[in-house]
Amino acid sequence: MAGILISNADLVLTCAGGELPRRGAGMRDLGAITRCFIKIDRNSGKIVYVGNEPPDNLPDDCETVDAAGCTVIPGLVDPHTHPVYVGSRANEFFMRARGKTYLEISKAGGGINASVRTTRDAGVDELSATGLRNAWEMLRHGTTMFEAKSGYGLSLESEIRMLEAIREVGENAPQEVVPTFLGAHAIPFDYADRRGEYLDIVLGEMLDRVVEEKLAEYMDVFIEDGAYTLKEGERVCMAAKDRGLGIRIHADEFTDMGAARLGVEFGAASVDHLGAIGDDGIKTLADGNTVATLLPATIFFVNSDGYAPARRLIDEGAPVALASDLNPGSSMVFGMPIVMTLAVLKMRMTIEECIVASTINAAYSLGRAHSKGSIEVGKDADLVILDARDPEELPYRLGADIVRDVIVGGKWVKRDFSMMWRP
Ligand code: NIG
Ligand code: FE
Repeated sequence: MAGILISNADLVLTCAGGELPRRGAGMRDLGAITRCFIKIDRNSGKIVYVGNEPPDNLPDDCETVDAAGCTVIPGLVDPHTHPVYVGSRANEFFMRARGKTYLEISKAGGGINASVRTTRDAGVDELSATGLRNAWEMLRHGTTMFEAKSGYGLSLESEIRMLEAIREVGENAPQEVVPTFLGAHAIPFDYADRRGEYLDIVLGEMLDRVVEEKLAEYMDVFIEDGAYTLKEGERVCMAAKDRGLGIRIHADEFTDMGAARLGVEFGAASVDHLGAIGDDGIKTLADGNTVATLLPATIFFVNSDGYAPARRLIDEGAPVALASDLNPGSSMVFGMPIVMTLAVLKMRMTIEECIVASTINAAYSLGRAHSKGSIEVGKDADLVILDARDPEELPYRLGADIVRDVIVGGKWVKRDFSMMWRP
């Protein structure tokens, strides 16, 4: 069949309104249309009609889907994940339950380096198998595009294998996957007392290969007590800029390092976490186009209470996105709905802000505001049909399978609660 018509949706939240990120009151404008019809051209995978009336000239071979009683939203975009790794860190989860903090566990030899030990020797097939399973899991919860970082290899060949695996996930999963090189995720255990030497390798031969083989669109660095310093982060930003990669930063997560400001100064696409961001960082973000990506599921999962000041960020005018941070250590969280639950309860975000932050603002931060993140004619047909008349049900019905259907690029991947695709 050449087309799909979604008919009679109670509510469609288009999030339409241009390619700039939404901020302030703009984050509460969902471009809602009631009793709405959406037509998709399956050949191009694009949206060709959105409106209150059924479209004219419906071809005979158009499949009609009744969305009465449902809310339709743009496919959810997860702009910060680490979905490729080997090994479990459930032990750390239980250590935190007994009172240890994420940084204490890291400094005692757990944390990112624990995953490096189990991931470094893995082959591309093993890595991409995990990535695909995770992509599938994200899809169940409505994620139709996501960013994926390397960063558990931390040696030349293993970082390249991770990025090759991420590429394979993008080729084999229904979602578009945006790759990020995170060679500067931690100081690897075998360079513990030679950090400068390791960073030289990251910015030298690793970055050369990443650029030559076009393995990443973005480069990321974890600036934190116990990871990279602000000065080292600046070197990473300079190198990324020089080599034409976009910049994302793990910034001010547990400690205010001034990393948000650094990101804005370098025109970073996104600065992420921000649990400890100070007044200066907030003001800088409000004045720029760098997206503040918040990851409340991580704070929950590490059993901390250092949630980012979302209210201040939004009220002072910073464009905000939400992400899962899916990774084996600090966030075994796969879906954006639960991230929204935490954003509402722990960061006092409104439902409208949560939806904008998980669609158009996230797409903007990945350089995809022209093709993703809203329901508009000409955009990719990435859509989620919710089994709910009201979007408030999304964070409210915690853990329920509220995502009835998922369409990615005009293709069904979940239909009437059933997955249409398996890894
Ligand atoms: O975003 N903060 C640094 N990176 C990840 C943690 C990854 C890990 O613990 O394995 C994060 O939380
Ligand atoms: Fe992360």
